[in-house]
Amino acid sequence: MASNDLIRYLPKAELHLHIEGTLEPELMWQLANKHDIVLPYESVEAIRAAYQFEDLQSFLDLYYQGADVLRDEDDFYQLMWAYLLKCKEDNVVHTEMMVDPQTHTHRGVGFEVFMPGFKRAIKQAKKELGISCYLILSFLRHLPEEDALQTLEEAKEYYDDFIAVGLDSSELGNPPSKFENVFARAKSLGFKCVAHAGEEGPPEYVWQALNLLQVERIDHGVRSAEDPVLMRKLVENQIPLTVCPQSNLKLNVVDEMSQHNILKLLDDGLLVTVNADDPSYFGAYINGNFESLDRALDMSDKQLVKLVKNSFFASFLPEDEKEYWL
Ligand code: ADE
Ligand code: ZN
Repeated sequence: MASNDLIRYLPKAELHLHIEGTLEPELMWQLANKHDIVLPYESVEAIRAAYQFEDLQSFLDLYYQGADVLRDEDDFYQLMWAYLLKCKEDNVVHTEMMVDPQTHTHRGVGFEVFMPGFKRAIKQAKKELGISCYLILSFLRHLPEEDALQTLEEAKEYYDDFIAVGLDSSELGNPPSKFENVFARAKSLGFKCVAHAGEEGPPEYVWQALNLLQVERIDHGVRSAEDPVLMRKLVENQIPLTVCPQSNLKLNVVDEMSQHNILKLLDDGLLVTVNADDPSYFGAYINGNFESLDRALDMSDKQLVKLVKNSFFASFLPEDEKEYWL
C-alpha cells in the first residue's frame, strides 16, 4: 500500500489533461451568470449531479456544452489559472495540456481570444508557482480532416506556443487513418505528435496511430493489452501510454477500478503514466487518480515511484530538465 503522504509529496508531471475538462461547476455557473447564458441546470450541485456517464460520447456531449460558457480572454485565463492552482496542490511541477481549438472556433471564439488568456495564466504560474507548462493542439476527430487542416493553419501565429498536436473526441468510427495528412503537415512544421487511441477503440487504432500518424505517445491505449504483438512493440520501443484510471472508470472502459490493467501493464514493462484527463467531470485530479488506484489495487511504493518517474521520462521536457526530476 503506497502512503497518501508519498502520493501527495512526490513531484509529478501530468501528460494527459484536457484544459476544457478542468472547468469546475462553480466556474461554469459564475461564467454563465457573467454572460447571461441560461444553463440547463438549476444549481451548481445539479451540474455536478449530471456527471454520470455511460460511455465516451455521453461525456463528450456535456463537455462540449459546458465549454460554451467560455467566451472572453479572462474566462480562459481563469480556467487555466484554476487548474494550475490544483497542480500546485497536487505537487505537479510540469504539465502538458491538450487544448481543443475547434471547440471554441466553431462557436466564433478564435485563437486570439483563448490563447492570450491561457498564456497569461501559464506565465504567471511559471513565475509564482514554479510550474512549467506545454500545450498540445488537439484536433477533434469527429470533424473532417479538412477542418483539422484549417485549424492548423489558423493557429499559425501561435505555433511557438504548442509543443505537439494531438487527436481526441469520439474514437469509434474515427480511426487515426482519417488524419494522416494533417499529422504529416504538423510533423513537417516541427510539432511532436500524440493521439488518443485504444480508449474505446480497438488495438488496430493504436497501430494506426503509431504507423500512420507517427505518434511519440499514445493517450489511453489500455486496449493494447488485447494484442500481444502490439504489447511487444510498446515494450521494446518504450512508447509511453498516458493512462487515465478515473476517466476509464467513469466512462465504463472498466467496470471496477480493481479490474484496471495499469499495474499489470507497468509490471509487464510498458512505459505507463497516471493522468487525470478531465478531472472536473470525472471527480479526481492527479493525486485522486493515484489514491483510487492505490485503494483498489494496493499499489506498492515501488510501483508508485516508477509511475511518477515515468511521467517525467515520457514528457517532452529537454533531457537535462528530465534528469533533474529523475
Ligand atoms: N476529450 C476530452 N476527454 C477525452 C477523452 N477521454 N477521450 C477522447 N476525447 C476526449
Ligand atoms: Zn483524453
